[in-house]
Parts: sequence; C-alpha cells; structure tokens
Amino acid sequence: MSLIHHRPKLARDIATQLLNPNVLDQSLRSGLFLSGPRRTGKTTFLLRDLIPTLENAGAVVIYVDLWSEVTASPSKLVHAALRSSLKDLQSSTRNQSRRAAGVTFDFQVADLGTPTGATIAQAAVEIVDKVKTDLVYIVDEVQHMLTSDAGLALLYAFKAARDAVNARPSTPGHFIFIGTGSNRAQIEGLTVGDKTAFLGATSVELPPLGKDYVQWVLQKLQQERVRVIPSLPVASQSFALLGRRPEEFMRALSTLQQHQPLEADQFFPVIAATLQASAEDF
Ligand SMILES: Nc1ncnc2c1ncn2[C@@H]1O[C@H](COP(=O)(O)OP(=O)(O)OP(=O)(O)O)[C@@H](O)[C@H]1O
Ligand SMILES: [Mg+2]
Repeated sequence: MSLIHHRPKLARDIATQLLNPNVLDQSLRSGLFLSGPRRTGKTTFLLRDLIPTLENAGAVVIYVDLWSEVTASPSKLVHAALRSSLKDLQSSTRNQSRRAAGVTFDFQVADLGTPTGATIAQAAVEIVDKVKTDLVYIVDEVQHMLTSDAGLALLYAFKAARDAVNARPSTPGHFIFIGTGSNRAQIEGLTVGDKTAFLGATSVELPPLGKDYVQWVLQKLQQERVRVIPSLPVASQSFALLGRRPEEFMRALSTLQQHQPLEADQFFPVIAATLQASAEDF
C-alpha cells in the first residue's frame, strides 16, 4: 500500500500558527523545531501535508533533508536547495501558481554558497521583498548541523536570515525556520542554552499518527478484501505498542494473514508484541 493517510487539519493548524500567528503564537516566528521517534512519519507529513498547505497559503517553501546525501556537508545541501528555489522563482513558467512574473534578483544565484556569493540572509530578504510573501525554510534531520563547526555556523546564518527579514519595522512577509529530527534531546537542545543560535524558539513533538490512521488502514484492507482484519480497538492498541510506526504495523498485518479471520483479535496483539520485542533487540 503506497498510499498515505493525509493529516490536513494538523497541516492547516501548523500553517496558520506559522503564517498568521495570534499574539500567543508570535514566538513561532523565532523558529519551530519538531521532533518525533524514528520512522513515525515526520518526513511524509512535511512533504505530503505541511509543504503543500504552506504553498497553497502563498508561502515560498524550501526543503532540505540533511541525510539525503550522507557524504555532502549541510552547507552544500542547504545552499543547493536555496539555489534551486531561487531558479524556480526566476523562471516565470514555474512561477505561475504564485501569479507573479519571473523574479529578478540583485545577486548571482549561481554564486550562493561560494565565499564571494550572497549570504542566506541577503537571499532571504530579497525573496521576501520581491515575491512579497513568507519564506519558510525546512531542514529535515537538522541535528546533523550540530556535528561540525560549519554546521553550527550555518545555524547562525539561518538566525541572521530570520533577524534580517523579521526584525524590520515593516516587512511584506516573514522568514520562518523549521527544523525536524528524531533525536528529541538534540532537537530541544537547539532552542536552549546561551550558545545556541535559536534560543527561545519553540520545540515541540510532532503529534504521532493515531486512531484515524489505523481506521484508514483497516478501511483500505476491507476495500482490498484482505482476509484477516483485526477490530479497530485491537488494531489501535497494537499500533501504539509498535511505536506508531506504519511499516511495523503493515508487517504485523501481513503476518496476521497466517491465521483464521475469527482469530484476528486474539493473535494480532501477540504478533505486535513479538515484533516489538524483536525491534528492541536492535
Ligand atoms: N501518513 C502516513 N500514511 C501512511 N504511511 C505513512 C504515513 N507516514 C509515514 N508513513 C510510512 O512510514 C514510513 C516512515 O515514514 P517517514 O520516512 O515519513 O518517517 P520519518 O519519521 O521521517 O523517519 P526517519 O526517522 O527515518 O526520518 C514510510 O514507509 C512511510 O511511507
Ligand atoms: Mg524523516
């Protein structure tokens, strides 16, 4: 099953808090850090729900996954994503969804990331001023920046971009930085301590998939006439036992097919417990 269960409400809520914050949510503009255990659907949520929602609301969104190329430095990946987005904005055809003609920038896009090129802050100010909208930069596996001095410098470059755009008395849009990753302590650590670039930014756990997801999977199984299907309460309990990981859940459902339909609720928790125990052995 390659389909995914969408979470439009969560995406809308986060997008609203970021793009149109009320008085209490203003601090999200200082940066938002989302953490969640491994394999629980963080990247899927970003790519399939949050980014389309932010873009539909008119924001320019840049996404980079720092684990996409293990050998590449965070700086190289961050600048490549920025250059690619700037090129999109320059080309009028790709830009039609924003109903703006191709944008021209006062710096050489190709030079970004080189010692003589524009800084991330300069690029951010120009994007916000010329497209007249919010710029959201999302860094997946952001903790990777903590592993080198160059990575730490990059965090300060993002902070500088935020301040260059947002600290102005009037700005046509804001710069919003979102960092995500699975190491909760490290992610939280990015927002506390005197030396951190993003002191005071918000760090929260991304809500995990829940009963809605389980119900959606069971419905799909029924539609596909899968033979052995557990009840919703038993399936939900087992999904929680499996750490709310879709892959483990699907594996458990597949193993369940060795049993008889009437035995589903009896065996599914046992299968989940066994899978959970073997996962803990790693
Ligand atoms: N909403 C969803 N509906 C269906 N399947 C999902 C959903 N979210 C995630 N999955 C599946 O769960 C697996 C893990 O998803 P994803 O890579 O998004 O998680 P992650 O938390 O970013 O993982 P990692 O810790 O490796 O970065 C993938 O196989 C993905 O297809
Ligand atoms: Mg991920």
